[in-house]
Amino acid sequence: MALKRSVMGVGVVLATTLAACAPTKKPSTIGEEGAIHVADLRTSELDHPLALAAAAPSFSWKLVDDARNANQVAYEVRLAKDSGSPTLWDSGWVTDSQQIGVPYAGPALAHGQAYAWQVRVRDNHGKTSRWSPSARFETDLDVPADWGASWIGAPDPAATSAIFRKAFDLPQAPVRARLYVSALGVYRTYLNGQRTDGDILAPGWTDYNKRIPYQAYDVTARLHAGHNVIAAMLAPGWYAGHIASFGPEKYGKSPLLSAQLQLDFADGTHTWVGTDGTWQTAPGPFREADIIMGETYDAQRLPQRWNDTGVVSSAWVAAHVPAGGEAYTQLLHPQDDAPVRVTGMRHAVLLPRQPTAGARLFDLGQNMVGVVELKVKARAGKTIQLRYGEMLNPDGSLYTANLRTAKATDHFIPARDGEQSYTPTFTYHGFRYVEVTGLDDPADVLAVTGLVEGSDLAWTGELTTGSAMLDQLQSNITWGQRGNFFSIPTDTPARDERLGWAGDINVFAPTASFNQNTYTFLSKWLRDLREAQTPEGDYPGVAPNPVRMESGAGWSDAGITVTYTLWRTYGDRRVIDNGYASMGRFMALIERRAGPGLKRVHGPWADWLHLDDPTPPDLLGTAYLAYDAQLMSEMAAATGHAADAAHYTDLAERTKRAFATRYLHADGTLGTDSQTGYAMAIGMGLVPPATVADAFVRTIHARHDHLATGFLGTPWLLPALSAIGQNELAWKLLLNRDYPSWGYEIQSGATTMWERWNSLKPDGSFGDVDMNSFNHYAYGAVGDWMYRHIAGIAPLAPGYARFAVAPTPGGGIKHGGGSLESAYGRIATAWTIDGSRFTLDITVPPGTTAEVTMPRVDASSVQDRGQSAASATGISQLHAVAAGAALVLGSGHYVLTGDVSDIAL
Ligand code: BGC
Repeated sequence: MALKRSVMGVGVVLATTLAACAPTKKPSTIGEEGAIHVADLRTSELDHPLALAAAAPSFSWKLVDDARNANQVAYEVRLAKDSGSPTLWDSGWVTDSQQIGVPYAGPALAHGQAYAWQVRVRDNHGKTSRWSPSARFETDLDVPADWGASWIGAPDPAATSAIFRKAFDLPQAPVRARLYVSALGVYRTYLNGQRTDGDILAPGWTDYNKRIPYQAYDVTARLHAGHNVIAAMLAPGWYAGHIASFGPEKYGKSPLLSAQLQLDFADGTHTWVGTDGTWQTAPGPFREADIIMGETYDAQRLPQRWNDTGVVSSAWVAAHVPAGGEAYTQLLHPQDDAPVRVTGMRHAVLLPRQPTAGARLFDLGQNMVGVVELKVKARAGKTIQLRYGEMLNPDGSLYTANLRTAKATDHFIPARDGEQSYTPTFTYHGFRYVEVTGLDDPADVLAVTGLVEGSDLAWTGELTTGSAMLDQLQSNITWGQRGNFFSIPTDTPARDERLGWAGDINVFAPTASFNQNTYTFLSKWLRDLREAQTPEGDYPGVAPNPVRMESGAGWSDAGITVTYTLWRTYGDRRVIDNGYASMGRFMALIERRAGPGLKRVHGPWADWLHLDDPTPPDLLGTAYLAYDAQLMSEMAAATGHAADAAHYTDLAERTKRAFATRYLHADGTLGTDSQTGYAMAIGMGLVPPATVADAFVRTIHARHDHLATGFLGTPWLLPALSAIGQNELAWKLLLNRDYPSWGYEIQSGATTMWERWNSLKPDGSFGDVDMNSFNHYAYGAVGDWMYRHIAGIAPLAPGYARFAVAPTPGGGIKHGGGSLESAYGRIATAWTIDGSRFTLDITVPPGTTAEVTMPRVDASSVQDRGQSAASATGISQLHAVAAGAALVLGSGHYVLTGDVSDIAL
């Protein structure tokens, strides 16, 4: 047993565990106390992280203030080693409204140290809050100096998986215990027989040649005085398992584990236990463990009480410590995005039709991502097989043809007779149906439960659509998101692909960022993209990019557009700062390639999967050059790069002119009759909308008012129609139920977004099997329009500090609304049309301003809770505009009513 003295930089022993951290010593006496307080403290946008990069934390909070028109005018932040300890840094009162990403500006923070911070604020009404409850965080380790653990693996280099254990004695129970773990591969860890965490497939997927994430867990409660056992399972994961259809071993051959447990005792002493050659290893239960292929779990091979105090048999040998592990240690970084976890459960029902003898086919009722818990009455040694599919064949059997080479099959070999459960550990699937075979009697399948897995992001958006079909559409979009946001944003969770396709997230990021808080998840992916940037500055089509996938317009541009979406949505400029140099190199490259004529022809995918409605690739490429330049000019200006901002503004203008010169004809056509061409030209502001409005509408009528757009055009289609005053046509496309449309998928029983408009054809046959996923979020990009036009919420300034509320009812729908948990707090809307009366219920969080448009409402009739709006507190600038009544709201809750001047609603 190797108990060593700490080699860490943890010089200070905490007086208490952090759990005992008191919120504040005494309430503030400064200023007038009132109904104002601070909530939802985030440290670098994380909720009490245990390994936060020590170099530059930032602080964010929300203000809770009952008064209308409230905003913060000053704040004070203070930080201590723990809430009982003396203050290490106090910002003093800072006269500033900033509530997002306030940088820490105190003395350098130590590594491996716990800290707590608080904030108090003063509002524009002169009220001062109490000190907020403390937000705790711990800093990361000083790697490599603080990472004393070795990398260990199975002695047999051909072994793809293994189990490990290490027993040790403790003189006393620790007051603080942290487990830091990483793997080249995927791991699960245990202390005294219990899992240390709920993470799935940790440490997640990055380019392991550049960055290996490690996790930190609070395991204080798992340890006791006396004998303890730490144990782990290890499998190939993305590191050595199959990636897409490219085969296994894209990063390395044999998985490795590195873990260290750091313990602090009440008497001020410390110790640690780290992976090394004294750990024991055994082959373990996995005959196969592969993300794409599935898992074969032979319970007979799992030693009894292997992760507990069980007797160690001769099956256990010393772990292998390969030479050169220090090189991996150098690449360790704390995970800074949300881990993949089980985020939900679904009970499967036995299908009434059982077409295959000896099999039991179950329906989860929802295309989902994750694994199942199988409850069976089984016989020891008899293999039970689980297969997964998104659809059924016409004969009722499981449809797996679209999985291509992904076997997506699990096997469970019980170690004993009788009732028992099995849940796969090191794989995951995309499926709605599960087929179980291999039991003596198929009726011995007792239950199948779906465990829904994905990156565990907070849900932030909600839509009330007033239409069952649209509610289902929103459900399909969110289910596609929750399963495909799996460490990286994948295209599809089912077939042999599951790659971080940049084009897909380029079009979907705005919708996704309404639905969930994507900040840390997509920031992490943007770093993956930067780490995959080519030496000349190009971003590839996928990230991580182990097979050197090429780039393409609309795909590589995600480096710019996703960054912009995160900044606009969450208001934190760090996301720009982090990518600024890299984005600059990309911009320089695409500008250079476009040549003096500013014509960008680049990329194999164009308007991917359009319906026989092609758009010239140079039109798409040039449009994206202008759009990227526009976004970069805003981001450069926001981060103090004035000269760059001027350059990008100029580039955007010149490219727009080049675009118009080349494509815009005198008759108002664009030299193409593709819907996407028009939608992008209008949506990206490349031509005056009115000039092409008629030609655009003709492209829709030519398809009998149906869409034909591919991945790149779809997000712009309805926004462009709304922009040219064709609100009803936008609603019509949204509400269509026949092919091709969003509604067609729903009429066909879809529970997630399909890859193709014709993934299932109107004749009931399947679309092209070579590429036909039923869980592909790209066409869910319409969600952005739904939030902006049904909930009516759209950002006007970063973080929604200023936002629009402008619902555009249509399609005969009489009520709608939605909400968004913004960085400042909850924005909510609910509108109804009752005869000629329009009611709009709005919540505006403190620190923000809403610019409201009440559609077709007579401005002189507007009231707030029955009082004239013109004199109500919080309301200003009430006036008539072409679209109806316009007014500006400070924070607060309003119930606005008005007379609709045009009953055509
Ligand atoms: C993926 C897409 C991706 C595309 C590139 C497909 O195989 O599933 O979603 O964007 O390739 O064109």
